[in-house]
Amino acid sequence: LDNGLMRTPPMGWLAWERYRCDIDCQNDPKNCISEGLFRDMADRLSEDGWRELGYSYINIDDCWSDMNRDGNGRLQADAKRFPSGIPHLARYIHNRGLKLGIYGDMGTHTCGGYPGTTLDKITTDAQTFADWEIDMLKLDGCYSNVTEQEQGYPAMSKALNATGRPIAYSCSWPAYQGGLPPQVNYTLLGEICNLWRNYGDIQDSWSSVLNIADWFFKNQDILQPAAGPGRWNDPDMLVIGDFGLSMDQSRSQMALWAIMAAPLFMSNDLRTISSEARTILQNKVAITINQDPMGVQGRRLLVESSGIEVFWRPLSDKTSALVFFSRRTDMPYRYQTSLGKLHYATGTYQIYDVFAQREMPALKDSTSFLVSINPTGVVMWYISAPADEDQDNAH
Ligand code: GLA
Repeated sequence: LDNGLMRTPPMGWLAWERYRCDIDCQNDPKNCISEGLFRDMADRLSEDGWRELGYSYINIDDCWSDMNRDGNGRLQADAKRFPSGIPHLARYIHNRGLKLGIYGDMGTHTCGGYPGTTLDKITTDAQTFADWEIDMLKLDGCYSNVTEQEQGYPAMSKALNATGRPIAYSCSWPAYQGGLPPQVNYTLLGEICNLWRNYGDIQDSWSSVLNIADWFFKNQDILQPAAGPGRWNDPDMLVIGDFGLSMDQSRSQMALWAIMAAPLFMSNDLRTISSEARTILQNKVAITINQDPMGVQGRRLLVESSGIEVFWRPLSDKTSALVFFSRRTDMPYRYQTSLGKLHYATGTYQIYDVFAQREMPALKDSTSFLVSINPTGVVMWYISAPADEDQDNAH
């Protein structure tokens, strides 16, 4: 969507995967969906170095609202859990140099059973969000049919634009239509949405991360051309820092999401996150790769029978990223290849190992090398061609 927003994939924090529909503030005050939770995360983003790295959105998901609209037919926040109100929370977040996202649903109800946005409510709800100084809307698609979605998603895009407030627009529409053509029209999505969920919900497990990555790369011929500045495929949240992933698996999610030019919305507890998980999420070069201004989504280059897969993303200024990934479950695998075999043109390349955080010896395209890849882990390289050599870039 050409609204000037999200020229690189959005980064921030989103409540859903970690906090779900926990509305039990009586017994779980620190984790329930309430203004305190979002203030806490805003404090962490602004005080613990996240904002400077680009993590700037704080996004509310489902279960924030009252079960009923107000007397004027407007959505309203649950007054017990958001006693100061959403406009106040928006100011709190803006004062910290951050942006506030909210959640709605094209349909009669949200997936959690809260009031949805039916076709007749689209203008009202867009205006409410603009009045509240919201910066992003995720519009889910529970409880609506194909026709309602076909009308509703473009209508909300228009309605948000008509408010005059820049509001980024995340569409769950394709996830409800199987994620693939002919049901899904990616050209249209790129015109009306800044990002879109193509596929099912992520869970806090390696099998879920792997299943999502597999689906996106299996369908890369369709998905990869759909992405670009202002319009991104969304494989769903980062679960790094939660309970389900090992450190190797956490690096794998970070690396593959960077290759995919995916939105980086963490869903974790930034108050208690381990320093290892934080180091992965705050890896500057991985973020640079994800945030490359050219905005070309990467691809899977090859699948080896050994269980090794290689991913590649072209980046600005003749740089690129490579990810060596192992599906193996035995021991570190020593994979032998050369840049030439990975379609790099003749020349000598500078290599930076992203997670080891060190410069490697320069490599000629023809030189064979070995990388040791941990089970369910990755090795990620940031590659540049020396300026003096003036050879063609890869591919
Ligand atoms: C759907 C969405 C999730 C989340 C929940 C909320 O499942 O895909 O991301 O928003 O609804 O109920």
